[in-house]
Amino acid sequence: MTQKSENIRWHGSNVTDEEREQQLGVGAVVWFTGLSGSGKSTVARAVEAFLVREGHSAYVLDGDNLRFGLNQDLGFSAQDRQENIRRVGEVAKLFAGANVILLAAFISPYQADRDRIRHSLPEGRFIEVHVSTSLEVCAQRDPKGLYDKALRGEINNFTGVSAPYEAPTSPELRLDTGTVSLEESVAKTVVTLRQCGILPPV
Ligand code: ADX
Repeated sequence: MTQKSENIRWHGSNVTDEEREQQLGVGAVVWFTGLSGSGKSTVARAVEAFLVREGHSAYVLDGDNLRFGLNQDLGFSAQDRQENIRRVGEVAKLFAGANVILLAAFISPYQADRDRIRHSLPEGRFIEVHVSTSLEVCAQRDPKGLYDKALRGEINNFTGVSAPYEAPTSPELRLDTGTVSLEESVAKTVVTLRQCGILPPV
């Protein structure tokens, strides 16, 4: 994305990162990627509830919800998805900068778009969780009836059916919600956050 505005200047904070972390805890982006119906939002919301009840600042952004507001002008072409993820990445970065554990649940089918967000954050503050539930299981669940419609040709560019999904090559965690329970998925995510230094050790 090119910079259109001129005569602008970056303003820094009066608070150091160390001071902020001491007061507020570590901020990070936990990025759940996977097919529609794979369980991204369900796991993200369960992790959010666990973290908030443990006294951490955590918040979920998810694809369906953001498309009602910030991203209501975007569809599902490759270009629109790239813009969707770019905007969400910027918002996620702001939350992480405010020391929130931001849980993002988006199909985010392109590796390059996810990598761009990883590299825009401080080292170790982007945790990629591949919700690797198989296409068969997602299509069988079909909670919104979308796979059915996509297979009948009533929805174009549907991820996994008529649009690509690039699985992460080296995510911090993989969760197949077809074989792992919600409780286990939350536990595995929390363990990963401890291992990555986002949450303090027990
Ligand atoms: S992304 O590809 O740009 O990351 P995002 O996560 O925001 O997608 O939105 C995905 C949600 O939009 C799906 O869970 C589904 O409910 C809905 N949806 C509608 N049309 C499509 C489509 N063509 N492909 C995928 N998801 C779609």
